[in-house]
Amino acid sequence: MLSQQELKQQAADAALQYIAPMLDPAAVIGVGTGSTADLFIDGLAKYKGMFRGAVASSERSAKRLADHGIEVLDLNQVDSMPVYVDGADEINAQLQMIKGGGGALTREKIVASVAKLFVCIADESKLVDVLGRFPLPIEVLPIAREAVARAASSMGGVPAIREGFVTDNGNQILDISGVSILDARSLESALNNIPGVVTNGLFAIRPADVALLATQSGIRRL
Ligand code: A5P
Repeated sequence: MLSQQELKQQAADAALQYIAPMLDPAAVIGVGTGSTADLFIDGLAKYKGMFRGAVASSERSAKRLADHGIEVLDLNQVDSMPVYVDGADEINAQLQMIKGGGGALTREKIVASVAKLFVCIADESKLVDVLGRFPLPIEVLPIAREAVARAASSMGGVPAIREGFVTDNGNQILDISGVSILDARSLESALNNIPGVVTNGLFAIRPADVALLATQSGIRRL
């Protein structure tokens, strides 16, 4: 029986195999955030010199990349990226995701939006029928925290401020629980329209293109 850590390693290894043919001296790779993305970064280091560099979705990932000697580029220096690789907190069969458990959702969504392909890597425990058991993170401007919380309550959610947490952008996170997300695209749009919301953790309007899910019997590709 493989541990969750071993499954995450398998998913990271599968992503490296998947992206290896995309590497060339001009290629810039989009890199996500989290424990699975960390394993991907460690593996990416073995390909150093075969690609130009990476754009990171968080300070944490930027530091890990730099520690491996991989050049970290600002997104503003980059016109296009062949691929963005990141984990997820939940993913469904349509490859829609909840992300932001690590609080990096805003930069993740921005970097992913520039990449041609979004490859989600996760262990199979992240695959769900209906999104929403994992509390949905929303990054809010501090001034709007209570107003956004009230709006989320009026939509049927139960908001909780992530105590003591400040995002890389200097904002706060509300985690919304109690919502069974049947129409993720509509909810993503509706939440985006609340004044003061910077980003919500639904990745449904732009879902992943490929999911590499590690199971006890190997990689399942969706
Ligand atoms: C970070 O903000 C998140 O979106 C992560 O991608 C997500 O939490 C998955 O993290 P793990 O790989 O640690 O489960």
